[in-house]
Amino acid sequence: MAQEITFAMIKPDAVAAKNSGKIIDIIEQNGFNIVGLQKINMSKAQANQLYAIHKERPFFGEMVNFITSGPVIIMALEKENAIKAWRDLMGVTNPAQAEEGTIRKKFGKSIGENATHGSDAAQTAKEEIALFFPQLSR
Ligand code: RTP
Ligand code: MG
Repeated sequence: MAQEITFAMIKPDAVAAKNSGKIIDIIEQNGFNIVGLQKINMSKAQANQLYAIHKERPFFGEMVNFITSGPVIIMALEKENAIKAWRDLMGVTNPAQAEEGTIRKKFGKSIGENATHGSDAAQTAKEEIALFFPQLSR
């Protein structure tokens, strides 16, 4: 399996709770190569694009407000099978249901404030990398 790049983000709840360093350490200890990293305040326009697929869902406005409520750390992570590997390391969306040892289990507070984001498929990874790390986009 070839090296793959996925888009990852440490969300405002985990940044505010000072858990970024711990999460980055877990990422590195799990064999990911961090090929891009930036701390940003996401614009409403970027949040709308990132979550465009959810725009009809009832929690869309809340989600955009939350993701733009404070700084986030965005990363491009490289590893063999990176997309699935990062989703597995994060755990499922709802921290209450996440497996022991996953990032959302350790650091997530609720389904909305769930510490991290990860691309869910090859196509979304490509789009999200293009949106936030155009220099890495191919
Ligand atoms: P993400 O995109 O943030 O990595 O999360 P995910 O793939 O595990 O979950 P997804 O279905 O893409 O949902 C995106 C984000 O929407 C929030 N959400 N809230 N209130 C709710 O029922 C609800 N459901 C989803 C979560 O914060 C989720 O991360
Ligand atoms: Mg998702």
